[in-house]
Amino acid sequence: MVKIAPSILAADFTSLKEDIVSVENAGADMIHVDVMDGHFVPNITIGPLIVEASRRSTSLPLDVHLMIEQPEAFIPAFVQAGADMVTVHAETCPHLHRTIHLIKEQGAQAGVAINPHTPIEGLKHVLEDIDLVLLMTVNPGFGGQSFIHGVLEKISSVEKMAADVNKNLWIEVDGGIDQETAALCKQAGANLLVAGSYVFKHDDRREAIERLRG
Ligand code: DX5
Ligand code: ZN
Repeated sequence: MVKIAPSILAADFTSLKEDIVSVENAGADMIHVDVMDGHFVPNITIGPLIVEASRRSTSLPLDVHLMIEQPEAFIPAFVQAGADMVTVHAETCPHLHRTIHLIKEQGAQAGVAINPHTPIEGLKHVLEDIDLVLLMTVNPGFGGQSFIHGVLEKISSVEKMAADVNKNLWIEVDGGIDQETAALCKQAGANLLVAGSYVFKHDDRREAIERLRG
């Protein structure tokens, strides 16, 4: 069954704990945390301090998405702050295999994210080492952008790549996910859906999560 991870990027940070608790009570499976550094992406968001505050707000797993350069320098701090899953962008990691193992040594599940234009082929060489592949369905940096349909074929290809080697893998999609695009992603093979605006801007968050789950 598909899992739903609301992104707190779309939450109200004056009442972050209430917003996290509200999506937990509405049936969310994980909390997605978007970390941006103003270098890899044209926006700055949050650091380990907010991850630690989120950790104290919920018992749900924290799915931390690092959109930062040189993530190795910060991985221990994010895991210590309470990240259960840490995802780095392949585009920021010249020594991706080493970075993945750093995440695992710290005690978190390891994920690799790729931008919409990045080919999936490189993932094959680290597939056995990772727990999660995150396929960006927008250009990372902001919430509320439109879904890029061209990524759908990459979802199917990653699913096939994993099935070919009998690998149990989270196939996560992130950006522009609503009821309609969620259905397309699930059909293509995604099993973990991130949604920011669609969940947090919805009056009835339980209904929003149920619609994404389908
Ligand atoms: C984009 C972030 C996404 C974003 C999704 O760079 O990685 O997680 O918060 O927001 P929506 O669902 O509003 O597109
Ligand atoms: Zn994200």
